Amino acid sequence: MLITGGAGFIGSNLVQYWIDGTNDTVINVDKLTYAGNLQNIAKVIGNPRHVFLRTDIGDAYAIPQILAKYKPRAIINLAAESHVDRSIHDPDTFIQTNVVATLRFLKAVCAYWNELAEDDKAGFRFLHVSTDEVYGSLDVGAAPFRETTAYAPNSPYAASKAASDHLVRSFHRTFGLPILTVNSSNNYGPYQFPEKLIPLVIHRALTGEALPVYGDGKNVRDWLHVSDHCAAIRTVLEKGQPGEVYNIGASSEKTNLEVIEMICSLLDEQQPQRNGKSYQEQITFVKDRPGHDHRYAIDARKIRRELGWKPKLTFESGLRSTVRWYLENREWTANVTSGAYREWIALHYDKHANSA
Ligand code: NAD
Ligand code: TYD
Repeated sequence: MLITGGAGFIGSNLVQYWIDGTNDTVINVDKLTYAGNLQNIAKVIGNPRHVFLRTDIGDAYAIPQILAKYKPRAIINLAAESHVDRSIHDPDTFIQTNVVATLRFLKAVCAYWNELAEDDKAGFRFLHVSTDEVYGSLDVGAAPFRETTAYAPNSPYAASKAASDHLVRSFHRTFGLPILTVNSSNNYGPYQFPEKLIPLVIHRALTGEALPVYGDGKNVRDWLHVSDHCAAIRTVLEKGQPGEVYNIGASSEKTNLEVIEMICSLLDEQQPQRNGKSYQEQITFVKDRPGHDHRYAIDARKIRRELGWKPKLTFESGLRSTVRWYLENREWTANVTSGAYREWIALHYDKHANSA
């Protein structure tokens, strides 16, 4: 099994899930950008069924060599730039990885697949991991995104992921590559880099900093625990129809303010402050994100009906265990929030705070 982006948030959870739950050897291809971290995969480093290769998926020289050497029976593609706010500051990097490098990767994979023996060729799968953000923004009360919803990306991140989805689709329709695409809602759980809402709020609450709420805090996200996403990816890989798209979500819509208040309550319970104050007092409203999508919501009936997957965790239980994980792994957060992280916070949040 070849997994790209396996040192990032979802990728590292998926690599661990695959090592624990299958007999496959996992070839983990990751460039190690600011978001990729070997500490995320510390538990599988040294495992003979895990091979880590620091490589860019767009490396047209290294990728064919890796494919020829390890002969994967399937590929799960997670490597991407993934943070909306960064895509507003620097869209070019998103086009470079999510579009240009993804195209190069698809070309290398297609060439490899074409040379496989008939049986291996028929069994091969390329599973592309994408996001609900390609569908754009929903009004309150509108029906959740279905696999047939028209693409309407609003951020450079979403536009770059939409482009990659289209390229993946085209490699199926034009060249016959057996692809599967999954579009999931917002993930949360262990090893998520503290630039994304949930780990950012936990980290900043514990360090006594302001908890920045963009706009009025009424934007809605549909939360999915990363372990449920990993199980869904495995289900789609094993049972999905080549060429098909599957939306993945847990029907857990919450406003950002609700999420932040839930985190504060869990921290008040699990790590009460000595001064007796609630973490809620740190909540601060800041200037809104430009082009901020109001609401995402996933209709996951297709994967449930056709493949039998459904989420195991409620948002309440998943968030509780996530908060506990961050409390028990403060060293991990301390390690990943040095250097480049501080530069990002200064660039983005100082600007936000100044113009609020
Ligand atoms: P992440 O930013 O935590 O990790 C991305 C990983 O990809 C990092 O390890 C990084 O080093 C690696 N990478 C980046 N560019 C690369 C390149 N050119 N070559 C090789 N490796 C490269 O992201 P994540 O949150 O784990 O998301 C993983 C995938 O899932 C992405 O494709 C993202 O669009 C998608 N997704 C994420 C969410 C979410 O809520 N996090 C939801 C739906 C879909
Ligand atoms: P984020 O975790 O960046 O994911 P996405 O933009 O891909 O949905 O943000 C989730 C929501 O939280 C989004 O509506 C923006 C909001 N948000 C804040 O209010 N404050 C913050 O500091 C961050 C990072 C996000």
